Amino acid sequence: MAEQSVPRRRVLASLAALPLGAALLRFVPARAETGTLAATPACDDDPTPKQTEGPYWTADSPQRNDFTGDGAPGIPMKLTGTVVDTACTPVPGTLLDFWQCDGNGVYDNEGYKLRGHQYTDANGAFGLTTVKPGLYPGRTRHFHVKVRRPGGEVLTTQLYFPNEPANKTDGIYRPELEMTVAANGDASFTFVMEK
Ligand SMILES: [Fe+2]
Repeated sequence: MAEQSVPRRRVLASLAALPLGAALLRFVPARAETGTLAATPACDDDPTPKQTEGPYWTADSPQRNDFTGDGAPGIPMKLTGTVVDTACTPVPGTLLDFWQCDGNGVYDNEGYKLRGHQYTDANGAFGLTTVKPGLYPGRTRHFHVKVRRPGGEVLTTQLYFPNEPANKTDGIYRPELEMTVAANGDASFTFVMEK
């Protein structure tokens, strides 16, 4: 009986040790992964790609973050987000100059409808209340924006909507510039600027 009980205890001890050993093995890489994630929270190390300005930018846009008063046709939506550097540090005071067509695909090239600039707040955040841009020949749905961090270069780029059929046929479209769009139609994007 004693001969049976000793091996049985050893077996039990081994069984008990295995999950602990396995747990420890899992614990080490899990901590390492957590550390890596903490160093790069929710942002991409790659700078946001540049894109063509296109023909419709107008200088000297008004400072504002709400285009509602323009009365432009289109589905109301908000575009929010953050500007960070390649170390994922928010960049306050960054200029964002947005311009876009209305819901019918028409730009205001005479005045400043659906055009405006703003600056990121202390947390690097921005927000724009506007309408969903429409489609016009040759282009998928997009926003235009110029982004300039304090003392930095101007980044001219465009933002796109996911699951837009015309993304497949627009040669300028890039998937890295897709916004995240919520069920209610509001969109968000994180700009990553060169340090
Ligand atoms: Fe455009």
